[in-house]
Amino acid sequence: MNKETAKKRLIELRKIISQNDYLYHTLDTPKMSDREYDQLFAELVDLETKYPDLLTDDSPSQKVGGQILDAFEKVAHRLPMLSLQNTYNETEIQDFEDKIFRQLQTAKSALDFYCSPKFDGAAMELVYEKGLLTRALTRGDGYVGENVLHNIKTLRSVPLRLQTEDPPPYFEARGEILMFKEDFKKLNETQQQNGDMVFANPRNAAAGTLRQLDSSIAASRDLKFLCYSPGALDGIEFPDFVSFEKYAQSVGIPTTPKFGKKNLTQICKGSDEVIEYYHYIQKIRHELPFDIDGIVVKVNSTRLQEELGFVARSPRWAFAAKFEPEQAETIIEDISVQVGRTGALTPVAIMKPVSVGGVTITNATLHNQDEIDRKDVRIGDSVIIRRAGDVIPEVVQVILEKRPKKSSPFKIPDKCPSCGSKAVVLEGEVVKRCVNLLCPAMMKEALKHFASRNAMNIEKLGDRLIETLFEAELVKKFSDFYSLKQDQLLELERQGDKSTSNIIQSISTSKNTTLARFIYALGIRFVGEQTAKSLANHFKTIEAFLAANPEELESINDIGPRVAGAISAALEQKEFVKEVNTLLKKGVSIEATKTQKKGDQLAGQTFVITGSFAISRDLIKQKIEDHGGKTSGSVSKKTNFVLAGEEAGSKLDKAQELKVPILDWPTFEKMLK
Ligand code: IVH
Repeated sequence: MNKETAKKRLIELRKIISQNDYLYHTLDTPKMSDREYDQLFAELVDLETKYPDLLTDDSPSQKVGGQILDAFEKVAHRLPMLSLQNTYNETEIQDFEDKIFRQLQTAKSALDFYCSPKFDGAAMELVYEKGLLTRALTRGDGYVGENVLHNIKTLRSVPLRLQTEDPPPYFEARGEILMFKEDFKKLNETQQQNGDMVFANPRNAAAGTLRQLDSSIAASRDLKFLCYSPGALDGIEFPDFVSFEKYAQSVGIPTTPKFGKKNLTQICKGSDEVIEYYHYIQKIRHELPFDIDGIVVKVNSTRLQEELGFVARSPRWAFAAKFEPEQAETIIEDISVQVGRTGALTPVAIMKPVSVGGVTITNATLHNQDEIDRKDVRIGDSVIIRRAGDVIPEVVQVILEKRPKKSSPFKIPDKCPSCGSKAVVLEGEVVKRCVNLLCPAMMKEALKHFASRNAMNIEKLGDRLIETLFEAELVKKFSDFYSLKQDQLLELERQGDKSTSNIIQSISTSKNTTLARFIYALGIRFVGEQTAKSLANHFKTIEAFLAANPEELESINDIGPRVAGAISAALEQKEFVKEVNTLLKKGVSIEATKTQKKGDQLAGQTFVITGSFAISRDLIKQKIEDHGGKTSGSVSKKTNFVLAGEEAGSKLDKAQELKVPILDWPTFEKMLK
């Protein structure tokens, strides 16, 4: 390419890249795959290296990311937050390592690579001054970030103060903010029910949450922080990544979690081991609770990192090895419309089965009419689908060249596919809804919600079984669960003595619950778990809740007119109140609600619960948290107490081995007094 053509191409490249930076970093709506972006970026850097006098100050190669929004305090990073060079296959991994070896002139066996999964979230820098968390900065453009401390403070896993007697004067922990897959699924369900925008993937949901001015939104979404490296430091140094990670853990900063018993990070020597690690992580990626999009390989030693230094916007001592996006081509055979618990009609593409990353996919969500129109998805179309982590697969794009001659745009029907009543788009919403309160499809979903884990938690009643019970007309409303007899269950297909007795037992166990769970289980529109907790804290008893009037509801923190309206509407329905009373008559028993925090008798103490008790584990956990304590799933030296019930197992042994004090129930209760 001659200089004249290079000049033209550079102008073009800068425009495309800047545009995409903005879409990606500022709007969270990328229109280009990472791979395409990386290729264009590499071309840009190539041309600028070849013709240095064509380099301009405003070239994206001089920046790390996109623009910054206005609403937050902008703070300069003490050290820029750079990005990583990407590789996509074994040869590229080898090439990268060769470059490192050449520069360092070391033998391959002498170099440790610290390898970890590449978290697919939003980059974050936590600043601790004298041990106190004082700032939480997004990456921004790499040089100046936004302070989102108010949101980060709501993260349960982020310590507000480093857990050490002797904190360094200045300490930056860098890492990724993630929304775990399970939380993402729940969030999107709620968004969908409320007629709000659904997020395309957990990364967008995490980034979007960080950018909220109102921190109660972040608080309700349970984001996670996972630390992967230090930033600027004063008064403390680390010889390598491994020692940094150990220190971070010791002061309470979450780092890469374990996968079962295995470490997810690994020291590798040479590219063979790195490649083996790459394949291992790729194999288990979908079993992880969060999204990753590759691995990160870093030279472990700080001294060698300093020797290697930086090139343009990336360190020479680290690189990412990314996974190919998991996409595949298939044909849409039909579009079915499903009815959700709150009546929302969701279009779902039924596809010719296709394998994506080892999993056979037959359904993909099309979200709503706007999405269908935007992508112009039609029955018979050939499409590219993507499986973003464990998230419900979605249609990326239609291959227009393959569209059959006779095809027409798809419109979600105006009638509910289940009950035939008119479906409407309510004001301010995008989704069409069935508004027939007796619609069987809605009822079926409401029953599933009632029994679900965070509601009444009827453990042995899965969605499939609930559908069967509904279709057999054994359960038509919530209270019917509590009239089920084992004989009736035995008549169903595939049910034996043991399974049916377990089901009856778990139904009976579910009767002991909290007011918050009970209110949540009733499935009132807009009343998610958080709102249900606020309601329970305010009203304390179900009787008081049933007697609530709109003014009182609106006076509660976090409850606006829309939510208050929905609750009042439910309470005005005679059928609704009657059903609540039937549930109580059938033995649903609500534990007296305590105010959110009962005290801090247990502050700073970590408990591990093992064995069985008269009340459910969740309730015990709640009790501990209500009194300022924490719970953990496994016994370690950091555990303060093990609460042991009947038939306690290996955790009890472990506690004895580590000399962790063991409590029985009466002693535990005394601690709360
Ligand atoms: S180390 C110089 N480790 O990837 C940057 N980064 O493309 C050193 N990321 O903005 C970063 N997981 O937010 C590192 N285990 C990991 C990571 C990781 C995700 C992100 C990070 C950075 C981007 C770089």
